[in-house]
Parts: sequence; structure tokens; C-alpha cells
Amino acid sequence: MREIVVTTHSYDLGELPELGNRFLIGNGYMGVRGTLEEYDKEQLAAVNLAGIYDRCGDGWREPLNAPNPFSLRLYRREEDGSDRPLALPSAACDQHTQSLLVREGLHRRDTRFSCGVRWQVERLAHMEQVHLLALHAVATAKEAGQFCLKSTLDGDVWDIHGPHYREMSFPTASEHQHGVEAVTNEGDTVAVCCRWSLSTPHHSATAVAQRKQEAILDFELAAGQSASFTLIAAVYTSKDCKEPLQAARAAVLNAPEYDELLASHRACWAKLWERAHVQILGDDPAEEALNVSLYHLLSIAPRHASSLSVPARGLSGQTYKGAIFWDTEMFMLDFYLAVLPEVAKTLLRYRIDTLEGARAKAREYGLRGAFYAWESQEGGYDACSDYNVTDVFTGRPMRTYFRDKQVHITSAVVYGLWKYARWTGDDSLWREGGAEVLIEAARFYHSLLIKRVEKDDDELWNVIGPDEYHERVNNNAYTNEMARFVFEQTLEVCAQLKRDAPEAYKALAQKLSFEEELASFQQAAKRLKKPTIRPDGVMEQFDGYFALEDVTVDAVRARLKDPKEYWGGAYGVAAHTQVIKQADVITLLFMLRERYDAQTLRANYDYYLRRTEHGSSLSACMYALAACGIGRPEEAYPLFLKSARADLDGGGKQWAGLVYIGGTHPAAAGGAYLALLWGFLGLKIEGNQLKTEPRLPKKWRGVQCRLWYRGQAQTLSVQQP
Ligand code: BGC
Repeated sequence: MREIVVTTHSYDLGELPELGNRFLIGNGYMGVRGTLEEYDKEQLAAVNLAGIYDRCGDGWREPLNAPNPFSLRLYRREEDGSDRPLALPSAACDQHTQSLLVREGLHRRDTRFSCGVRWQVERLAHMEQVHLLALHAVATAKEAGQFCLKSTLDGDVWDIHGPHYREMSFPTASEHQHGVEAVTNEGDTVAVCCRWSLSTPHHSATAVAQRKQEAILDFELAAGQSASFTLIAAVYTSKDCKEPLQAARAAVLNAPEYDELLASHRACWAKLWERAHVQILGDDPAEEALNVSLYHLLSIAPRHASSLSVPARGLSGQTYKGAIFWDTEMFMLDFYLAVLPEVAKTLLRYRIDTLEGARAKAREYGLRGAFYAWESQEGGYDACSDYNVTDVFTGRPMRTYFRDKQVHITSAVVYGLWKYARWTGDDSLWREGGAEVLIEAARFYHSLLIKRVEKDDDELWNVIGPDEYHERVNNNAYTNEMARFVFEQTLEVCAQLKRDAPEAYKALAQKLSFEEELASFQQAAKRLKKPTIRPDGVMEQFDGYFALEDVTVDAVRARLKDPKEYWGGAYGVAAHTQVIKQADVITLLFMLRERYDAQTLRANYDYYLRRTEHGSSLSACMYALAACGIGRPEEAYPLFLKSARADLDGGGKQWAGLVYIGGTHPAAAGGAYLALLWGFLGLKIEGNQLKTEPRLPKKWRGVQCRLWYRGQAQTLSVQQP
């Protein structure tokens, strides 16, 4: 694989949030935002941790940012004895490059300050030893001078709804070492320790300020001379072990030198890329964009865990409460299944292990079975608030129904489990709690069914489909069909278990006493209302959708009084129109693609594409898939690129009302992979064999990639006919 380097020369403060996302490094345990070393919480610097959350007061519960060990500032001593910071954006500079080395998982900056000092820093989040972070910096002076380096372990972290640390102590201060132990409001501990070295003779002092620990290193450079500084840090939390501080201290002391860490980090990335890299012959920009997407998916994959999932904004911060959405199973899972099946299993175990939380949520709504959290944190706790959007005009929180009504989330969990079994041929997850999830999912949908006395159908009322702009609708086609899928899968897996693993089946039947319910699941699968389909094949997104005002997306956009205004909800500009936020019917036609023909796909693609705002980064890839499915790869191409470039272009909405929703977009990254695999390559599973039916855009000469199907490595090599 050739190196792919994402670069920018910008250090414009306005671009900082996006650059922080674009240049993110991570290893599944933590993500380090791509901010420069001199930046702090004001510029959204953060070391975001996976799977550990806290609530401060009445604020939203959100994931933790660890005290930041990468805070580093260089100063030049002036003749009057004062220290002039060589820090962007204020210090004059002639040249500045920030880069992300995608093949090697390295973040670099190279700044030539106008005063003649060059400042180069490289840093990594170690891919194998996931608790370790490492940094190597070099200062080179054109002219002789006195310098000072301040290396800070910064506990004054960026929080959206913080502060999350109620106590912070710095117990391991010693020369060349720092440490901090921070205790959250919920009583968890986060510990960070670091050791550093400077290559030139220096004086060092350690000063402890509030919420910070700082090493101040003075040194001198002759003209043309360089000083190099390395720092190795370890992060542990009370979720990892009983004594995180001791663990972090030991990890830092035992860690090898920077060069050795760099070598093992590179070797680990090389192995990952051997599996993941996709070659697109004839189209370097598309190949780059796709592999950058895969880089992000690799950087956040929980390879270190056995039961953990990936948040909707990856490890790029606290947006969306660091929660797990349907994004994981529906958009990201296929990549992990194809490239790192063990990770796919880890993601699904997370859902099995959070079944209790889903049961509790169902009970809370007076329902049976498992109602999975719309914004799931550990234990399946639903972090979604009743007021998830702030009205731009009044500044008041708006009642939203994502938590209560996006009942399709439970079907996504079932769909993920089904995909896992089908792709890997490994049915162990059914026996390890997966079948229990299925039964509880079927119970959940069954308990939601509405029966009108004068109608034969069963119905699902008062739901929100993938298109969130239309709230509390009846018989959303996507939701109904996915619920039907749940009933059918439950029946199938139960029958399979009874046949192939009678003991496991018996134990399950004893535990859940579900056998008598199977007949009602079967009935429900038959009687659940089918979508209304017009003679031309267009499927009505929900009851009454066709009667809504039929206007263009631009016309609806023109009605906005404020660019940040929320389009959905009771009064949103889209709510009473046919304009939708994101692929809805089209998502259904992809997920259950074996049930629909090309004519249906064509009619719905042509109808809904024009009415879709793509207000979610999950949308474009679904239309790319549909366009491929009807033999229009040229139309699919820009939609695919929109998905693949989501984090390169900083696309996607940054605001929902007044709520900041920026961050990386792993679902769009996964969606780009979906579009490649099931769209352009036309992958199909037929009789447990993989087949391709390529429909490549004209400029692509071919595609090559590897994947692991049913435990076997396969190389897909497809040429333009
Ligand atoms: C989308 C959801 C998605 C969530 C997290 C929302 O804007 O409408 O479908 O799950 O973002 O990515």
C-alpha cells in the first residue's frame, strides 16, 4: 500500500473543530483529536475514552476526555528575559503543515516560525498497546538562542456537559515523570502517567498548578542545532483494573523508547492494512477517500475488548454523548465482518450484554421484551434525552421523540446478529445470548402492535423511521418491514436451535417460556401491515406521506429563518412536506434487498432521491447502493464520494438546532464500504458462496480488496468489462 497523507496548511481558528476530526488518531481504546500541541480545551483538544461515561449535575451523560498528556508549548527567550510562545495561531510563521499518515497511523506537524525556529512533532496512539500514547518533537534553531519547553499533563479538559472530574491529584510528580489521578462524579477513576526526555543539556523544574502538571525545560541551541523531546504516556481507568494509577505508572516505566514503540505501532498498522486496503485502479482520489474512511474505522475498532461498540461520532469527542446508535449494525458492521470478524463479534456481544438495559427500557414504556436504547451507553443505558434539540429562536429545549419512538433500533440489533451468522457461518452467538435477544426483540414488537377493530392488519403506530423529520407516524414502511424481519428471524433461529442444539434450546425455553408465543409471532409476521405501493412501484414512507406538500428540498431550505434551525419536530420546515432528512424507504430496500426487484428499486430511487435533504451523513451511501442496484454507477459515484469524503471535507451538519453535533462520521465511512462491496462490486451471497456482479463507474479500471468470509481469506479482483 502506498502512503496516503492527508494534509492542511491551515491553522485558522474557525476550522479547528473540523481539523480536530480530520486528523484524529486512535486505537479503539482512545481517540486523540487532531489539534496542535499548543491547543487546549478552548480549541477542542481531547483524548476521548471509549466506553466510560459520566454525568455532571443535570447535564447530559457523556464519555470522558482524559487529562491530556500531549499539551506541549515551545518558547523562545527574548533579550529582555521574557519567553515568547512559538504557538499558533498567534506566532508569525512562514510555513505550516499538519498531516495524517494514514498508512502508519501517525499525526505530524511541521511549523517554520518566522523567527527561524522549526518545530516538528510526531505522535501516535499505539495500535497494539492501546493504553499508550507517544510523542516525539524536534526544535531546530537557525540562530543560537535560549528556549523553553513546557510539557503539561492537562487536567483542564474539554467537556460539553462537564466538569466530569470532581477530584484530581497529581501523586507521581518526579523529574521526568508526571501522573494524575482523576475521580469522576460517578466515582470512576482515570489515571494518566507520562515520562519524558529531552536530548540536550537542560534544567528542568516541575510545577503543579491547579488541574495541571507542568514540566518546564530550559535549553540552549547553537545555530543550526536541534533538541529533541520524547514523551510516552499511559492511560488507564477503573473500568480496566482496580488500580489505574499503578497500572499507568507501570505501563509508562516498562514501555520501550519512542523508536521501538513507533516500529511496533507501524508493524501493527501494516498488518491491519494487509487486510483492509482497497485498491481502485484508475481513480486515485476515490481510492484515497475510501481508505481514509477505512483508516477511521480501524482507528476506532475495539480490538482490545470483547464486548464494546463504536459510538456514532467514533472517538472524536463527546458529541452525541459518545453513544452507540443503529449506525454500528447497519452501516459499520459489514466492514468489520469482512475485515476483522472478531471485532464484529465484540460489537454484537455489546448488544447481547446490554439486553438487560433494553428490557428495562421496554418496561419503562409499559412494553414487553427488549427496547434497545436509541443512544446506548454502557449497560444499555439510554442517554437520549427527551429534549435533544434546542430551538434557535427561543433558546428553549424542544421535545423530541427519538428515544421513545425510534423503535427500529431493536431490529437493527437483530439484523446485525443475523448478518454475523450469515457472513461468518459461526452460529455461536445465537447460543451465547443472541437467541435470547431475538425472542425479546420479537416480544417487543409484538407488544407494540395495534389492532383496529374493523381492520385485519396489525399495525405499528406512532413511530419515527430513519427519516427523523417526520415524528410519530403510523406504519413507517421501514419499521414495519424490519419488525416483520425480526418475527421471521426469531422463528427461524428458534427452529434451527431446536434442531441443531436441543440442549441450548431447552435451556432457553425454560428461561424465557416463549414457546407458546411462537405462533403469535408467526401471525404477526403475516398480518403486520404491508406498505402502500403505488401502481408505479413507489412505496409510501408512512401512512399519509403522499398527501403531504410535495416541494423541493431547496424550496424547504428557502423557508428557513435561521441556518441552524431544526427541520423536523412539530414545527420544522420539513415536517409537513415530503422532504425527508435521510434515506428511509431506500434504506429498507437495501437492507432487505433480496426481497425487492430492480423495478421497485428504480421507482423509489427516482422518487425519494429528489425529496431527500441528506441531512444525515448516513443518507448518501444508501442512494449510492440503490443507484448501483439499478445499473447507474455514474450516478452512484458522487454519492459514494460524499460518504467516503465525509471526514475529509468536513461535510455533514454541525448543528441540530443549537446543539453541536460535529465529529467524525464512522457510519458514512462504513457506508462508503457498503457502497463499494454491495454496490459497485455487486457482491451477493448465493448458496453460501460469494459472487460479484460488478457495475463500476467508467473511470475505474478495476477494484481489488481482501475479505474474510466464513473463516477464509478471499481476494476480490474485479475488472471493468
Ligand atoms: C441520524 C440518525 C443517526 C444519528 C447518529 C442522526 O442525525 O438521523 O439516523 O443514527 O444521527 O449518527
